[in-house]
Amino acid sequence: RRIVVIGGGESAEHEVSLATATAVAKALLSTGFDVDELTIGRDGTWRHGVEALGSSAASSLAGALAVIERADAVFPAVHGPSGEDGRLAALCALAHTPVVGSGLRAGAVGMDKWATKLVAEAVGIRTARGRLVAADEIDTVEFETEAVVKPVSEGSSFGVALARDAAELREALRVAAGFDDRILIEEVVRGREVDVAVLLEADGRRWAAPPLEIHSDGLFDTRTKYDGSARFSVPADLGDADLAAVTEAALRMFDALGCAGVARVDFFLTAEGPVLNEVNTMPGMTAESQVPRMFAAAGVSYEQLVERLVDAAAV
Ligand code: DAL
Ligand code: MG
Repeated sequence: RRIVVIGGGESAEHEVSLATATAVAKALLSTGFDVDELTIGRDGTWRHGVEALGSSAASSLAGALAVIERADAVFPAVHGPSGEDGRLAALCALAHTPVVGSGLRAGAVGMDKWATKLVAEAVGIRTARGRLVAADEIDTVEFETEAVVKPVSEGSSFGVALARDAAELREALRVAAGFDDRILIEEVVRGREVDVAVLLEADGRRWAAPPLEIHSDGLFDTRTKYDGSARFSVPADLGDADLAAVTEAALRMFDALGCAGVARVDFFLTAEGPVLNEVNTMPGMTAESQVPRMFAAAGVSYEQLVERLVDAAAV
């Protein structure tokens, strides 16, 4: 079978997406698939391997669609608001080509931290109290208490900062406004950082791998995500009640959004139970990433995970 792997993208997560796409393509090749690699540049133009498909986003998209047309399935290994938000799933749906992972709706809602919060609260999953501000209103925001400031739609913690006083809040809002026109100001949740990966198999069964705990001093930020300094424990050392609570909440969130393929649901585990941080509908799948580590703990190798994702690709 011929699989098209898409990497890159226009968001801040361009490099991370390239790393995921490279790892996915390598796994597919080693499993015997034919692989075509499409890359979206930072400027939105598409490449097929090293060949530029056009000089503008629109003209190169036509060339990309011709490559997609020959595919048995597409693996959109693009993180962040220019791919993980459902637009690549929508493109494949329009082309009637099976695509790995979540469709348009789950991608779009999962990429929006405010919408995700509303869905979580609606199905009884706690999230940090937060308020939404428009990027053009940040000068009117008063410091109230220590808070985490985030762009609503971004990944890999780009633009995320802890604000402990008015000056830090001002600076955090300015930085976040560089990433999105909507910004979330959230109360600080103190708890253990625990991730759960959920997989929807081709036969319709969906299950959660053993959770992973992240050990980092302070924020698990963009730097500690990729400089190799974060320590993970997999499986996380959880009591039965906590294990059941995070697993159940992850499955409930996966179902509420209508996710497909693999999603990583991130929590803070507090004394009062899990508090949802966010949902990643195309989670990082580099060698350092959490998802491959969690499935390895479940006895599913990286190659097997990628093959199962391709097998479950839907039109
Ligand atoms: N957004 C990054 C790639 C992650 O979820 O791992
Ligand atoms: Mg994320």
